[in-house]
Amino acid sequence: MSKEQRGNWGSSVGFILAASGSAIGLGNLWKFPYQAGRNGGGAFVIIYLAFVILLGFSLILGEMAIGRNGKKDGYSSYEHLKKGWGKVGLLGIITSFIILSYYLVIGGWIIKYLVDFLTNQMTNDTTVHFNSFISSDYSPILYLVLFLVTTSAIVLKGVSGGIEKASKIMMPFLFIFLIIIVIRSVTLPNAMVGIKFFLQPDFSKITAEVILSALGQVFFSLSLGMAIMVTYGSYLPANTNMVKSSFIIALLDTFVALLAGLAILPAVFSFGYEPTAGPSLMFITLPKVFEQLPFGNFFGFIFFLLVLFAALTSAVSLLEVSVAYLVDKRKFDRKKAVIFLSVVLFILALPSSLSFGRFHHKIFFGQNFFDFLGYLTDNIFLPLGGLLLCIFIGFVWDKKEVEAEVTNNGKIKFVLLKTWLFLIKYIIPIIIFCILLKSIGIL
Ligand code: TRP
Repeated sequence: MSKEQRGNWGSSVGFILAASGSAIGLGNLWKFPYQAGRNGGGAFVIIYLAFVILLGFSLILGEMAIGRNGKKDGYSSYEHLKKGWGKVGLLGIITSFIILSYYLVIGGWIIKYLVDFLTNQMTNDTTVHFNSFISSDYSPILYLVLFLVTTSAIVLKGVSGGIEKASKIMMPFLFIFLIIIVIRSVTLPNAMVGIKFFLQPDFSKITAEVILSALGQVFFSLSLGMAIMVTYGSYLPANTNMVKSSFIIALLDTFVALLAGLAILPAVFSFGYEPTAGPSLMFITLPKVFEQLPFGNFFGFIFFLLVLFAALTSAVSLLEVSVAYLVDKRKFDRKKAVIFLSVVLFILALPSSLSFGRFHHKIFFGQNFFDFLGYLTDNIFLPLGGLLLCIFIGFVWDKKEVEAEVTNNGKIKFVLLKTWLFLIKYIIPIIIFCILLKSIGIL
């Protein structure tokens, strides 16, 4: 297949926006603030930052290098470098598909809230508002279909004409809107209490649980271990400085997570609410704040629009991984691949959506279907993918080739090259391995 047919990024700015669009998503805006709220605030944040520095950047670079070298989807790029290892890519492809199936459900909720704020239909009792919506049969499904169709339409238009273009429009708005909300939040009365909770670490709150959640969060937020960066890297030209790009992507993602914390937690504290609500923090607690603010509907609308942009650019990346596999390996044309996958996704998303209502029974290892998929992907598949990625780069892929790939054949000066390889070979796998044992209950 010619290069043109496969697609390529139009520019390096476009690539960085698309890749950070993949990274910046519900993980940053919805999960990070509630995880921090639940896991002791500053204590969680500091561990999170340590993991981003220690492993986030390194793994993004590693994945990207595999993709650019292989120039194919997640499966074929691994397989191209070493026969038999395609399975690692395949694990990533399957996992990202599973993640997308429940990501769509939350994406649908976001659209519903956006509509409610726009049409002034948000009610004071946000608990009832939220619970009666998510537990109904049809309306959440309708919204998830809206989200799915938008995602599919973008992916259908291809790499530079769809994904890159959409990211170039949505990402700048996301940054601007987020800054508006942060300014509003940190200037509320008593906002300082929330800011302190979020940024001042109380080291006594660091537990194994906090560390485990922080690691899972880093993987999720940076889209790691799932062949996403392999796929996005495969559309890169040979002269891109991947070291610099990986650094910028990790930095932007972390920056947005921190801003999301500052957008949500000070507002929550200012109105005297608890930060420990968990997943409902963004859907129940935060709308309560908007309801009491002057111009609250406006701020609510802006907030959910920015979350929608973030969620869409991430969902697009999750879908692209599977599309690339069907196009490169199974020789589908793009349109057929997108339509086929969308239908399967729709079916897979149904039990997740119904997990909050009719299908709430905790029959999957003591969890409902939605929580079970989340647990499986965040705590097992993502770290497992990361671990195999490290082993692959550290011990399977020829060291000379790895070095040549990340430095563009010696053209780029990467002073930390040896440190990076050392981290990937020894330190990161050990950390992930311990965490993996912990999450399956052995440690
Ligand atoms: N990183 C995205 C977020 O923060 C979600 C996401 C996109 C993702 N691609 C992924 C998570 C791949 C895990 C693996 O919301």
